[in-house]
Amino acid sequence: MTSSMHTAQADAERLPRMPQRKLDHIPGDYGMPLFGQTFEFLRDFHGLINRMAAEHGPVFRASSFFQRGVTVLGPEANEFVLRDTQHVFSSRAAWNPILEKLFTDGLMLRDFADHKYHRRMLQQAFKKNALAGYMARMNPHIAEGITHWPQGEEFLFFEQIKSLLLDVGAGIFLGLKMGPEAQQVNEAFVAAVDASLAVLRVEIPGTTWHRGMKGRRFLEQFMMDLIPVKRAGGDNDFFSELCRAADEETDVTLTDRDVMNHMIFLLFAAHDTTTSTLSSIIFTLARYPEWQDKLVAEFEALGKDELEYDDLDQLVQTTRVFKEALRMFPPLPTMPRRTVRDVEWQGYKIPKNTLVSVVPLHTHYMEEYWSNPYTFDPDRFSPERAEDKKHFFQWVPFGGGHHKCIGLNFAELQTKTFLYHFLRQYRVSVKPGYVMPHQLVPLAVPKDGLPVSITPR
Ligand code: HEM
Repeated sequence: MTSSMHTAQADAERLPRMPQRKLDHIPGDYGMPLFGQTFEFLRDFHGLINRMAAEHGPVFRASSFFQRGVTVLGPEANEFVLRDTQHVFSSRAAWNPILEKLFTDGLMLRDFADHKYHRRMLQQAFKKNALAGYMARMNPHIAEGITHWPQGEEFLFFEQIKSLLLDVGAGIFLGLKMGPEAQQVNEAFVAAVDASLAVLRVEIPGTTWHRGMKGRRFLEQFMMDLIPVKRAGGDNDFFSELCRAADEETDVTLTDRDVMNHMIFLLFAAHDTTTSTLSSIIFTLARYPEWQDKLVAEFEALGKDELEYDDLDQLVQTTRVFKEALRMFPPLPTMPRRTVRDVEWQGYKIPKNTLVSVVPLHTHYMEEYWSNPYTFDPDRFSPERAEDKKHFFQWVPFGGGHHKCIGLNFAELQTKTFLYHFLRQYRVSVKPGYVMPHQLVPLAVPKDGLPVSITPR
């Protein structure tokens, strides 16, 4: 561990007790008294960022949710903040106020050397062999799950995919068979996720927060009880892999508490992001049915019932659709950090203890990098056009640098496995002229649940 990492870690721990310093030397404004830009942030986040960028430039101060902060735009800014070569940007201090109680000590809520150690341990559950194993288990589960989806009537795609991925997740992550136990775990988990958006955070019975904390406590107990079984057994679910993960030098494994905390956070990080991605993909495929045919042709060319890990790279068109949907609708449109020391960006001093946000959503629509950015055009990712290759930090739906999504390969294999089964079985459509209304923050989801119809192919 370097000494700058040590100091950064200690500085980050002290931040909550420190006053925020003035940002008046940075262009921007704080919007309405007290509420700042909160309402615009919630109503039209993309519009707010575009407006502030047009009025103040790519570095501006703003205020939402009673927090003043600085937003920095563009690929260079993404690289500066996310790669964080100076160890000044704390992820924990930025995310903890929202997630600490429900998703305690998850990987994203750790910093610097401590984060590096835990990330190395978790990486072991994401190795190629482990991923191939999860995928093999996922295939039959998804294929079976979608056979019961309603045909001949409109239904909400978002609800169906959420429920399917919860069931698949209980199997793959925890090794549970579907039944009352998995059902109880899923309900506790959904309550905890819902509570992460709660404004009122006191445990009064009947509130979302109370249900969420109850859910958290249930999950804690459930995981702790299962750990000895998982440590002793030879299962290949994610939980078992994590229990066995050991430090390469010392052979020491994670403590029970760490395993439990990581598992709860991973379920959270994996679930809503993947349902968001699949909703965006299904919306675009329903709008552009010719892409459904292209994907099915690619799937049929493999000539097999189940998709295997080694097939993934051959799905060239599917990869482009996946990337394009994540460009247009990144599930996390913005990511926060908090400075542990003063730092300078583009001539502006950003003081210690400032909330700094990067905005993938904005970068993904910059005309300097993308042609006709509002058009769905997966071929922009083809080797001939390679629009994404101008800057390493211009396509950042998975973030980048130290905290880059550890589950990105998992997300891709799960998305492709779902599409492989779903599109070979069904054609999917939306009403003519339908445009999915997105709620962008904190996570991009269809406001109306995405009403679709399916017919057998
Ligand atoms: C398409 C789906 C997904 C998207 C778009 C996505 C996006 C992201 C982003 C943007 C971050 C970085 C946040 C930050 O820097 O503040 C992140 C981190 C993370 N993601 Fe994902 N994610 C997805 C799926 C998954 C899945 C399936 C898993 C687990 C199986 C997962 C586990 C994590 C974890 C543990 C972190 C924290 C990494 C760290 O702090 O080192 N994600 N994800």
